[in-house]
Amino acid sequence: MLVLSSWVLARKPKVINPFIVEHPLLALLKRKFNCLSARKGIVLNREEFQTVTQRKLILISLDWTRPKDPPLSLVNVPNFLPDDVVEFIMMYANPCIDVAIGAFVWNEQAVQHILKKLKKHKFPGKVILGGPQVSYVKKGIEEYYPYADIFIRIHYFGNPDLGLSAVTELDTLPSPFLNKFISPQRFIRWETQRGCPFRCAFCQHRESDVSMKRRQFPMSRVIQEAEWIAKHSNIQDVAVLDPTFNSGPYYLDIMDKLIKEKYRGKLALQCRIEMIKKEFLDRVVQLNDTAETVLEFGLQTTNSKEQAIIDRPNNMKIVEKVLTQVRERNIKTEVSLIFGLPEQTITSFKKSIDFCFNHKVPVIHAFPLMLLRGTPLHERKTELGLVESYEVASPEIDRVQTDIPHVVASPSFTYEDWKEMSKIAESLETSAKNITKSFDGKHNVETTSSLQNFNTYIV
Ligand SMILES: C[S@@+](CC[C@H](N)C(=O)[O-])C[C@H]1O[C@@H](n2cnc3c(N)ncnc32)[C@H](O)[C@@H]1O
Ligand code: SF4
Repeated sequence: MLVLSSWVLARKPKVINPFIVEHPLLALLKRKFNCLSARKGIVLNREEFQTVTQRKLILISLDWTRPKDPPLSLVNVPNFLPDDVVEFIMMYANPCIDVAIGAFVWNEQAVQHILKKLKKHKFPGKVILGGPQVSYVKKGIEEYYPYADIFIRIHYFGNPDLGLSAVTELDTLPSPFLNKFISPQRFIRWETQRGCPFRCAFCQHRESDVSMKRRQFPMSRVIQEAEWIAKHSNIQDVAVLDPTFNSGPYYLDIMDKLIKEKYRGKLALQCRIEMIKKEFLDRVVQLNDTAETVLEFGLQTTNSKEQAIIDRPNNMKIVEKVLTQVRERNIKTEVSLIFGLPEQTITSFKKSIDFCFNHKVPVIHAFPLMLLRGTPLHERKTELGLVESYEVASPEIDRVQTDIPHVVASPSFTYEDWKEMSKIAESLETSAKNITKSFDGKHNVETTSSLQNFNTYIV
């Protein structure tokens, strides 16, 4: 039996309900974990739950959802407190009940708190941890989580850490859309592949070893999903999660399917700029007869010393060419930069922004650098003299920042410099929001207004 329970972070819970659901996806999970089947939509009371004789698993999902996300959480509680999660688990505690938690960068503090409290209350079952915070630790996972018993990579506390990672079989993973787990709705997030063939030293999507290779979902599944998306006219906004949509073997086929089916909503695609091909841009233009495609390019920095240290060489000639091509085709484009990089200064940060303005990039985002587990920058933190803090750079920046440490000082910039870079990033975000609201396809007008805003700030 699985009890799935989820909370939405950053809000305080009033009610917490374990909710047991019967669903094809869960049926598969249950088979995998050899669990008993559960009754549809039934909430078991404590006694019922504890009298079931087989081993049981409570899956805890501590999600960070944004306002426009679909209600993926099985129980969306308006508020959140880690102690309520502990109370909920302890209510069901018995030696036959294990608890499994997904660990992400945004819930790290909450997970640590829950694990500590479960230990303190002598939770009698096994505590199982999975998720990126576990998968990406190369060695020594027990030092990060001394109060967990089993790590989904797979590793048992007390045994030698072989540094393995959990690998999901994309070929057999059921589609949440085609299996009706997620119903058609205004906004959805969609995946056609996982991982990225590049090796940027700050990024968790990078191909770091065999277990972290870029992989795609089966073409037949993705094409069927494209049809499903286009057929449901209430789907108005699709954010594709692939870190580099244009790096796979059949992204052009996906575009063709969406064109053929006349998809009518918004489509946001993260792409590597140097891999942009004419055939792709032609298809974007074609799709835009009915839809509204936004291309999101990473640039991070135009400074060659910074590019070298983050292992992110940008071919600036190609970057310039592609930025011209998208402008000529009137394709909506966003470019993201990072501030807080090793070797960066306020001047070099402003130069990266100037490059974007000079090439009339309509929307520019600048994100504060996070040191993510398993990435080379995380490993080199001390050597590079990178100083972290939980301070939020700016609430205007469209990224989860709460409870996540960011680099706020380094040998090349002070904390005060970081504060100034945060202000600049905030002003870019304010401009971006205004532009997104009033976007009418006239790039020059928007870029000028963005530049004016920025100049107002830096004067
Ligand atoms: C997944 S990437 C998509 C763009 C595309 N893959 C590329 O790099 O050209 C999304 C953006 O998130 C930002 N990002 C990724 N890892 C980050 C980190 N550790 N700290 C701050 N920002 C990060 C980068 O600006 C990156 O361009
Ligand atoms: S930043 Fe982009 S290109 Fe670099 S590894 Fe991550 S996803 Fe790939």
